[in-house]
Amino acid sequence: MTAERYYDLLKSTADGIAPDVTEIEALLSPPDAECEQKLFDTALALKREIFGNLVNLRGLIEFSNICTCDCLYCGIRKSNTHIRRYRMSDDEIVYCAKLAADFGYGAVVLQSGERSDREFTDRVTRLLGKIAQLPAPPAVTLSCGEQSLEVFKEWVAAGAKRYLLRIESATEEIFRRIHPEVTTFANRKAALLRIREAGFQTGTGVMIGLPGQTLHHLARDIEFFREMDIDMIGMGPFLPQKDTPMGNAPDDKETVARRFSWALRMIAVTRLVLKDVNIASTTALQTIDPENGRERGLLAGANVIMPNVGDISYRKDYQLYNGKPSLDENGSQIREKLLASLRKIGEEPRWDVSGDPPHFTRRTKA
Ligand code: 5AD
Repeated sequence: MTAERYYDLLKSTADGIAPDVTEIEALLSPPDAECEQKLFDTALALKREIFGNLVNLRGLIEFSNICTCDCLYCGIRKSNTHIRRYRMSDDEIVYCAKLAADFGYGAVVLQSGERSDREFTDRVTRLLGKIAQLPAPPAVTLSCGEQSLEVFKEWVAAGAKRYLLRIESATEEIFRRIHPEVTTFANRKAALLRIREAGFQTGTGVMIGLPGQTLHHLARDIEFFREMDIDMIGMGPFLPQKDTPMGNAPDDKETVARRFSWALRMIAVTRLVLKDVNIASTTALQTIDPENGRERGLLAGANVIMPNVGDISYRKDYQLYNGKPSLDENGSQIREKLLASLRKIGEEPRWDVSGDPPHFTRRTKA
């Protein structure tokens, strides 16, 4: 595609003409560096039109790394014996939730390995109750894997507002290649529909730069977000984790740079196509570029950051991938750095608000 046609497509998409999947792939394939920059600038302009120069913050609490799944890419898969398994106590978790609220974050994400036994699901329900009793309770997002409709509903009733469950890849063949047989694409998709049915603001996302994945597959991922009418997106580059079956995937400089640039393009094109959804600039971006990764995600159209508020002592045992940043920084150090870097790019935190995706408000108002 010529630069001129690329600019036309960019403009028509920004103006609200919905691109088909072939056009989405074209948007993900800018013909030169100038066009790529124009893509990021256009997405940032749209982000600022919708949200202003404001960023929603969610305090991330990685409350347990005990997991019954065995995803081939993930550092906390059950077969990885190189990590110490932990679960934070209720008091520790509630403390972190309060810390996040005191920091002005307005929302927290409770993330853990996947378990669906009653002891676990009851515990999450109980925790939600305790967090709700804080003097100024933050909004709660859960990210605890696939659950039954009953459990999702129980968690909504207990006060959780949002749920994140990545589809990882909307191409079934890729999904199958990176998961053991028991984890199926159909089940994952059905779980996302249950999340929505239970009344959650629904979040999903994919990994970018998986072996064999092309921009065509990534275009289909965006198409999937649109079809599923998703409210929130979190996605980032795939980072090989050495203690996993996918730990030997290519990791040379060129491959890593490509994953990074594709991840930024995914953020930008997702913004242009889905418009009023929340899009996170993820830790995986920061892992590749510790100085500017998350900032570049925001400058490509993301509007959410999830600074860690957990205790340092657990951090190293929650490495979904190698090279996780801020392993030795506590919540307030992370906050200080984040504020400085937001200032640098002309964005500011939106303090003390839950930060709902306008898309959710719009689709549920009807
Ligand atoms: N590289 C990048 N992202 C990963 N995740 C898990 N393992 C990796 C990895 N090696 C992501 C998955 C999961 C989210 C919590 O972390 O997308 O859904």
